[in-house]
Amino acid sequence: MGASESDALFDALLESAQRLSFDSRSPRVYEPEPGDDERHGMTPQWSPLFGTPMWDAMSESERVRLTRSEVAQFLGVGIWLEVGLQVALLRASHSANPARPDVKFLFNECADENLHSLMFASAIESIGSHFYPRDRMLDFFGWVFRHIIWDEVAYGIVLAGEEMFDVMQRDWMSSDDVAAPIRRTAYIHVIEESRHMTYARQKIRDRLIGLSRFRRMVSTLLIAVGMHLIAKSLINRRVYEDLGLEWDVVRSNIDENEHHRMTFRNAAEPFIDFLSKEGLLNGGARWIYRKSNLL
Ligand SMILES: [Fe+2]
Ligand SMILES: [Fe+2]
Repeated sequence: MGASESDALFDALLESAQRLSFDSRSPRVYEPEPGDDERHGMTPQWSPLFGTPMWDAMSESERVRLTRSEVAQFLGVGIWLEVGLQVALLRASHSANPARPDVKFLFNECADENLHSLMFASAIESIGSHFYPRDRMLDFFGWVFRHIIWDEVAYGIVLAGEEMFDVMQRDWMSSDDVAAPIRRTAYIHVIEESRHMTYARQKIRDRLIGLSRFRRMVSTLLIAVGMHLIAKSLINRRVYEDLGLEWDVVRSNIDENEHHRMTFRNAAEPFIDFLSKEGLLNGGARWIYRKSNLL
């Protein structure tokens, strides 16, 4: 695709956003439905503990409490990514010509992401869960991401998060056993993020043209590290300790859970496919993806 074809795509994305976007500030998004008290925070199959001896030993209401806490962690990571991507991408575009189609779409994307973060915060509250603090290591990575990372790596890590959430949330939005506010917010997010993903893929492709082999190699590895940290961050010991579960037992249950590995690999698959098509997978990156059970 040449520059003018990319511009036409960015224009079309903006037009699509003008036609179909949601105002997630409406309280109707968070209204519970009859029966919601017994419903999960996310599709139970997405719980890292699903199917383990620990899971089997829980009552159904304990499992509901678990998935509600876990979804709060997942959405908390979502918020962290959405705020981080804005800092990184806006920083790089601060002096750019605001009439450029890609810059205009970025403005729209940031507007979306702010509303998504607010939406996730409201959704967490509406199911009686709360936000959990992250590991310090992740906060350090966040700092590096916001201040240092360059174009194709920033868009690569953004896309990694968006692709994983896309696969998960397509399940959540259509699961009868998931509480209504989560189903509705997942639906809004899936629709609006599909444009962001198209945008990020094109920005990466444009950026890769004429890139030196050395820089491509460094960027490939950094995207893999970013994806690894995102996947790792979804499991936070504080969630389990808060529920009175012993972390060491939880960890060994998760580590031995083949079902969990399969769901995460599924979630990563579209992203890994994209990387492989664009020449952003090398031996080192494959090793990292395999280590984090994403390949
Ligand atoms: Fe978002
Ligand atoms: Fe997004």
